Amino acid sequence: MAVEEKIVRVAAVGDIHCNESHRDVVHALLAHITETAEVLLLCGDLTDTGLVEEAHILAREITTTVKIPVVGVLGNHDYESGKQLEIRQILCDAGVSILDGETVQVQGIGFAGVKGFAGGFGRYQLEAWGELAIKEFVQEAMDEALKLELALARLEEMPLVVLMHYSPIRATVEGEPREILPFLGSSRLEVPLTWFDVIAVFHGHAHRGMPEGYTARNIPVYNVAMPLLRALHPERPPFRLLEVSCPVSDTAMGQ
Ligand SMILES: [Fe+2]
Ligand SMILES: [Fe+2]
Repeated sequence: MAVEEKIVRVAAVGDIHCNESHRDVVHALLAHITETAEVLLLCGDLTDTGLVEEAHILAREITTTVKIPVVGVLGNHDYESGKQLEIRQILCDAGVSILDGETVQVQGIGFAGVKGFAGGFGRYQLEAWGELAIKEFVQEAMDEALKLELALARLEEMPLVVLMHYSPIRATVEGEPREILPFLGSSRLEVPLTWFDVIAVFHGHAHRGMPEGYTARNIPVYNVAMPLLRALHPERPPFRLLEVSCPVSDTAMGQ
């Protein structure tokens, strides 16, 4: 029997770095997205310096402007002031599903999200060897990868989309200074992607990276850092749109 399908438009942007000075920019971006897409993904660095006030500005813009479901992850900037739990709560109160190893289903798509972490890529990634500080640094990336694996394993059979802040591959951070590439992502985040039917990965953090690349298993990875999208396409609103084909019956939203 033929399964009826529909197209769901997923908009994604990261690194909004919301603060008072560019509230207007954020408002215009969100207004455009809510007219264009059925789901909005926010890929971390939602605030500029991790201040509660910055989160309130974004929350207000979301509650007054956005009419579609919003799913997000936090980024390193959201941790800067030690207020990440409050920022998460403020955004959750505004209706945003902030994922830190959790999942959400929207319009027949399963979303899994983590912040991710650094450590480098491929054979040159940092290994858990030597000083305790190095081992703890590597463990952080391993913990994020495990969170992602467990989240993906909980989702049913459906198109799966992953969002994170750090990059799981090197290709989308190329363009940044070589010296900082290992701080922009970790190959450990790529491993769980290969075990599930992930159709796309969105991340931010690399403001001067590349807009797209592929995992070793050919899963598309999109760097949607707002400064990057602005630099690439100054003539249009800085977000990426992905059209996902989904079975019509799966329209429930849950956590
Ligand atoms: Fe950023
Ligand atoms: Fe970042």
